[in-house]
Amino acid sequence: MKMKHFFGKPDGGEWRVTAQTVLCGEAIAHMPYIATSYDAPLHPPGWRFSGVSSHLRYTTNDERGRLNQNPGILGRAAATCAALIPIRKNEAWWSMAQDERRAIYARSVHLEIGLDYLPEIARQLFHSRDAGEPFDFLTWFEFPPEATDRFDDLVGRLRATEEWQYVDREIDIRLTRINEEEAEE
Ligand code: HEM
Repeated sequence: MKMKHFFGKPDGGEWRVTAQTVLCGEAIAHMPYIATSYDAPLHPPGWRFSGVSSHLRYTTNDERGRLNQNPGILGRAAATCAALIPIRKNEAWWSMAQDERRAIYARSVHLEIGLDYLPEIARQLFHSRDAGEPFDFLTWFEFPPEATDRFDDLVGRLRATEEWQYVDREIDIRLTRINEEEAEE
């Protein structure tokens, strides 16, 4: 399984940080740029968070079909905005059995809320908890600038759910893609 790394950097990256908001828990250092890679340099400047994309935990076969009907595609040229949202859930969440967690996820209509925003908002979920990382999940989203209000609406709806009562650390990092001419300056 390949681990993907996200680097907060003082300079040079694919993405420029436009805003960084601590929703709950301890802050992280503010770095002006973010780069992503499957290789990890030995001494990265700034911070590094890592995670793997993994199998589905809570999604039923029927739900997977609904997700795949209209998937958001990463790497689209028009999707010049992104968000990196590292999230940690608390001990109460992790001490529950799988079926209890699934019930909360289902009652929170996480999937149904999310489906309202596909395919305009493309997403990828990385798991970090089992790698001993400070966050349990790194969530990544890409969207065109005109979808920013809808992205704000999406995170607002999810944060109001029962599931989010178990989130004890969340940082919302908003990004814009650095275009090639700018990178060459
Ligand atoms: C584009 C809309 C979205 C869709 C379609 C969506 C869909 C999903 C699905 C299907 C899962 C379950 C994966 C599994 O079965 O293991 C999931 C998990 C998750 N999503 Fe979303 N999601 C969306 C937006 C978001 C946003 C905006 C956030 C963060 C603010 C978020 C955070 C998470 C987290 C942290 C998990 C892992 C939950 C856990 O395993 O405890 N999602 N999402």
